[in-house]
Amino acid sequence: MSAGGQMVQVAAQVKARVAVTRLMLTNFRSYGMLDLKVEAQHVVLTGPNGAGKTNVLEALSMLAPGRGLRSVKLNDLARHLPGDETHRPWAVSATLTVPAGETQLGVGYMPGGDSAGTTKRAVRVDGVTLSNPAQLAERIRLIWLTPAMDRLFIDGVSERRRFLDRLIASFDPAHARRWGAYEIAMRERLSAVRSGAQAAWLTALERTMAEHAVSVAASRLAGVQSLMRAMDEQRASAFPRAIIAVAGDIEGSLLRSPAVEVEDEFAATLGRSRSIDADSGRTSVGPHLTDFVVRHHEKGREAQASSTGEQKALLIRLILASAALPAPGAPEAPVLLLDEIVAHLDETRRRALFDEIEALKIQTWMTGTDVSAFAAFDGRAQFRRVADGQIRPL
Ligand SMILES: Nc1ncnc2c1ncn2[C@@H]1O[C@H](COP(=O)(O)OP(=O)(O)OP(=O)(O)O)[C@@H](O)[C@H]1O
Ligand SMILES: [Mg+2]
Repeated sequence: MSAGGQMVQVAAQVKARVAVTRLMLTNFRSYGMLDLKVEAQHVVLTGPNGAGKTNVLEALSMLAPGRGLRSVKLNDLARHLPGDETHRPWAVSATLTVPAGETQLGVGYMPGGDSAGTTKRAVRVDGVTLSNPAQLAERIRLIWLTPAMDRLFIDGVSERRRFLDRLIASFDPAHARRWGAYEIAMRERLSAVRSGAQAAWLTALERTMAEHAVSVAASRLAGVQSLMRAMDEQRASAFPRAIIAVAGDIEGSLLRSPAVEVEDEFAATLGRSRSIDADSGRTSVGPHLTDFVVRHHEKGREAQASSTGEQKALLIRLILASAALPAPGAPEAPVLLLDEIVAHLDETRRRALFDEIEALKIQTWMTGTDVSAFAAFDGRAQFRRVADGQIRPL
């Protein structure tokens, strides 16, 4: 191969950065109006407690499918002023700069839907309304880490499952769509079971639910394999390798039996669970109950028995692995949202994190109260100060 040909090959391996270059907020949390323009480079937001740093990351997280980094109801994201009970519509709009040009992403919510605040948000891409928020995963790859996730390996199964599902969807956008389809099928079947629908109708709904369940389980297994392969390939990382096991009935069956058999078996299990589910008002079996067990590879120990710093380091390693994976059907690179990440890391790990992020050619939005903690990022990031509802260059 000619020298010129080799250069092309190397250049093709370097990812083009995908970055949020403008963020506009209307009535979102503490912000009445915000119009923040940045370069396609890392962003470091610093400021006192309560200034509105996490709110910015949360606004960005609403551009991904799901309920964002605080996982709250859409109603709660609207700006509330003391003594004012008005429910305002909120909106987040962003310019995403991708190698092919710019994409405008917008999400918004108009209160006045159902009392639970679960009405879907409106999603727009380049001015066109998307019917399904899961399609956002095809437009932007967002991954976040927040202090609330520090106990992810210790506490609730559902948080852990959501984290890994999100991580997988960040490089396999179809996973978000499969999950969305499963949730809808599960809701439909549960409501039919509770209203005493005819057996033939229930059987049909259970068949559909079983198909979606198996496809969710299969993409989880494939996603976990991809993550472990990525960690295998990034041997030089300063963060520990994780071994991930999927602990779920359907995923377990899929490792032993062909998909069609697992589907039949699960549809039959659903058929036998009708009265239990009708009584409890919950679906007692399925991939919405799956857990992920993460082990620290070098220490040979479960993540939950690792130190606080080690657990954070494992999470960072999982995120770096997912960021390195190709994502067919989505932008080449993700945008990372790291809320108060430096607080837990010693100086060596901090420097390593900045270096590894740089090597991945991804845009990262980071927050912290103390700007000096980002000294190793000087010259490699744009620093902004958050105070009094404003964001200004530092
Ligand atoms: N719906 C809302 N309407 C108006 N203000 C809100 C709403 N929700 C939260 N806030 C306020 O937004 C402010 C900023 O919160 P945020 O979590 O972004 O702060 P922060 O800068 O990340 O602080 P810390 O350093 O403590 O993490 C808080 O004072 C909070 O009370
Ligand atoms: Mg915060």
